Amino acid sequence: MNDDFLLNKLNERKEQHAFRQLRLPDGKIDFCSNDYLGIVRANLIGKYVTGGYSHGATGSRLLSGNYPLIMQTEKIIAAFHDARSGLLFNSGYDANVGLLSCVPQRGDTIIYDQLSHASIRDGIRLSFAQSFSFDHNSVDDLEGKLRVAKGNIFVVTESVFSMDGDMAPIADIIHCCEKYHANLIVDEAHATGVIGDKGEGLMQERRLHRNCFARIHTFGKAVGCHGAIVLGSETLRDYLINFSRAFIYTTALPETGIAAIEASYKIFPEMRMERKYLRELIHYFQEKTSELDSFRSGISVMQSFTPIQIVIVPGNEQVRSIAKKLSNANLDVRPILYPTVPRGRERLRIVLHSFNTKEDVDRVVEVILRGER
Ligand SMILES: Cc1ncc(COP(=O)(O)O)c(C=O)c1O
Repeated sequence: MNDDFLLNKLNERKEQHAFRQLRLPDGKIDFCSNDYLGIVRANLIGKYVTGGYSHGATGSRLLSGNYPLIMQTEKIIAAFHDARSGLLFNSGYDANVGLLSCVPQRGDTIIYDQLSHASIRDGIRLSFAQSFSFDHNSVDDLEGKLRVAKGNIFVVTESVFSMDGDMAPIADIIHCCEKYHANLIVDEAHATGVIGDKGEGLMQERRLHRNCFARIHTFGKAVGCHGAIVLGSETLRDYLINFSRAFIYTTALPETGIAAIEASYKIFPEMRMERKYLRELIHYFQEKTSELDSFRSGISVMQSFTPIQIVIVPGNEQVRSIAKKLSNANLDVRPILYPTVPRGRERLRIVLHSFNTKEDVDRVVEVILRGER
């Protein structure tokens, strides 16, 4: 069979120094996983969840795949996030696609932050509504788009941005949404478990969660499991059960997965020490990098008060070379390349965890800024 047409595209990627390959972890110090609190690393869930759970759900939730634990867990999580209702999806990707593809209708308008995650964009692509992006975190640009929006309006943003680590100006966005009667949807993927006294997320921490039409919390990051929940009204839940194809046409998560999620929702709210230390480490990283003013070749550090710290290293080749130096120094930091981010904005995405030490951070900073091995 001739698959040269695939090879051609792959070769293009290679020429751009952007060829993606799977690799296995090799024991380096973790500065790239989403295991912010170390729940997976310490196998905390494994200690809670012991035997007796089935490994297969046997069907979709509407057929044979629904069971008491999944309904109970949805209720527990919705209550934890002070939401009227919640519906579980098999991943954060599915939740965003499942929600955005079916709720906004033809004649409606979706306005989304330009740096929104691929799952948000894919969901929007599948919707019949018209859509516009607004400049990243720009409430002025959002307002400009809201002024001309038609039908039911949906504004979509993330509380913590996955590739920049910054937070949305959520109070201003809500103010703007209320002025134009727009429905706000917030993806809390990187805030869950990390922001708020119990890790409830940014919206609850700011006491603004009731102003959202929907919130998405994902379980594959700090929660240390897999899956996601869409929180909102009972009506929204009923609607998704009836119209969301990413919910309807897929096998439900197995009991083992749900038991793990339920266990993590008992564990992570209590991990206050870890969240406190993580905040300290974030400030330490920011301080450490601001001391060093002689950045080479356009390298700069973005301001971020979340575990996602970004060092801009323009050019796929240059960012890959520094990532290699970090790897040689036993530090697992991944480069984010064009086309995932715009040309010239290639970066090292350094993820801080509650188990990273300040000495580890010192080494990362040394290697990046002094080019040491
Ligand atoms: C902001 C955001 N939303 C959604 C997702 C998708 O979540 P999941 O990995 O559970 O599919 C991610 C994951 O990278 C993300 O960063």
